Amino acid sequence: MNHETHEFDVIVIGAGGAGLRAAIEASAQGARTALICKSLLGKAHTVMAEGGIAAALGNVYPEDNWEVHFRDTMRGGKMLNNWRMAQLHAQEAPARVLELEAWGALFDRTKDGRILQRDFGGHRYARLAHVGDRTGLEMIRTLQQHAVHKGMDVFMECTIVRLLKDGDRIAGAFGYWRESGRFVVFRAKAVVLATGGIGKAYKITSNSWEYTGDGHALAYWAGADLIDMEFVQFHPTGMVWPPSVRGILVTEGVRGDGGVLKNALGERLMFKYVLEFFRAETAETEEEADRWYTDKQNARRTPALLPRDEVARAINAEVKAGRGSPHGGVFLDIASRRDAEYIQRRLPSMYHQFKELADVDITKEPMEVGPTCHYMMGGVRVDADSAAATLPGLFAAGEVAAGLHGANRLGGNSLSDLLVFGCRAGLYAAQYAEGLAVMPTIDAGQVEALARECLEPFERAGQENPYAVHQDLQECMQGLVGIIRTEGELEKALEEIAGLGERARRVRVEGNRQYNPGWHLALDLRSLLTVSEAIPRAALERRESRGAQTRDDYPKMDPQLGKVNVVIREARGEMAIAREPLPEMPRELRAILEGDK
Ligand code: FUM
Repeated sequence: MNHETHEFDVIVIGAGGAGLRAAIEASAQGARTALICKSLLGKAHTVMAEGGIAAALGNVYPEDNWEVHFRDTMRGGKMLNNWRMAQLHAQEAPARVLELEAWGALFDRTKDGRILQRDFGGHRYARLAHVGDRTGLEMIRTLQQHAVHKGMDVFMECTIVRLLKDGDRIAGAFGYWRESGRFVVFRAKAVVLATGGIGKAYKITSNSWEYTGDGHALAYWAGADLIDMEFVQFHPTGMVWPPSVRGILVTEGVRGDGGVLKNALGERLMFKYVLEFFRAETAETEEEADRWYTDKQNARRTPALLPRDEVARAINAEVKAGRGSPHGGVFLDIASRRDAEYIQRRLPSMYHQFKELADVDITKEPMEVGPTCHYMMGGVRVDADSAAATLPGLFAAGEVAAGLHGANRLGGNSLSDLLVFGCRAGLYAAQYAEGLAVMPTIDAGQVEALARECLEPFERAGQENPYAVHQDLQECMQGLVGIIRTEGELEKALEEIAGLGERARRVRVEGNRQYNPGWHLALDLRSLLTVSEAIPRAALERRESRGAQTRDDYPKMDPQLGKVNVVIREARGEMAIAREPLPEMPRELRAILEGDK
């Protein structure tokens, strides 16, 4: 049971965009900072935000500004967003992008040399600063180099399995090295969670193996609140064929650069759904919707660039109606709309991805695409300004934190979220740590008990296989807690998840602790099962359709439910659910929203 111990003021768990930006800031404030990553440094879901960083720089449309970005974000989130987060995000994103540029990030350029911005769904103006279709990768490269040159401590291939507390405040974290299986304790005054999402709870996902809801579960087990867990984003365009690459992201940049969605009959399918959308969003009658859509200011918006929840639902409906592509998706066609040079210059990764993985030349043929679980809007409840969770000493930023995106995130708002709130989380965590005169105490008995618990899968008599349990969980979430939901299916999912929890407690793994992926998965199952229970519980509580949550049995938005967050917290070992009012929006921000009728 030996373990090593490290001591820092601030530890940041997760080294994608939010974690890197938080660690840079905490370190810049003078805090002794550690960055801990489950995988190798640089391997993060941030790279899957390919198409760009949303920021109202106004380089392509000078009329763009933070107020329009704020409005688009709130509308995209179906007004369930934390207004203060949406305001800070829109106001600070441009400065964070320019800072990234100053740190060496490359961007595509306008003719007069400014950062080029592209169209994305739900954004009124071309707003996404980008470099081809590799923006997330460029962001990670830049932040990583900046962080390493700042000289902080980086711990790679280290999984954190529990947060440690001293009374009711954070005292550090307990984990293990994936390579040796040996345990490690990080003593810290403050912890920033930046662990990303929960995609591996689903069968079809753009997320890779690291995204097992670790931060969500760590926060919940430690007693922090989670909110909005019902809102899981299905990106409309993931690869569908061949099966080995199903779910891999096809950037929204394809549609931003002119690609269109077609069904098996060759029809541009979004035309059918666009009036419905505009009517629900902005108008009482079809005529009014028609006028809105043909209005000069809105005319440049292509129906393929509606917000993601709308497009994913439309694709789902076309496939269900028997008008899908041969492998159960629809067609995304840019070949007939742009020339080969343009496609290869603007979308080099997509070109290579399809050529190498599917033997499809996207400059000549359409792609087959379908929805893929991409992003979690729900997560740790945080204070908008400081990114502090409801547990003293705990902070959260990026996908693991909730509030900014409400019921549905707009594409590109993730990268700006990571920069804005990563920076804030690092700053406030460092300030919090500085304000604590003494390092919190860690209970040796608790550490000993956690180590024993982690080793249980080697010693059990049970014969359950962690891979089989994971696969069954993914089937359950995909089939019963997916894009379209009903009460009966959600109840069934909860029953199945309870059964899978029983099975997980009987999981046995073979071999020893050295690089044992079966053991790693057996431990990850605990967080996967926790977030998988939270999603249908919250979805049942929200008896309405809003943003990413479509309830077939409650197809409309309920104005009363538009005023509350569904909150999840642990109470006597159970998952307790509550509805709590959204913070009241100040008059001047309400005026920005109302000014757009
Ligand atoms: O489609 C994309 O490039 C993804 C962007 C995002 O999730 O923000």
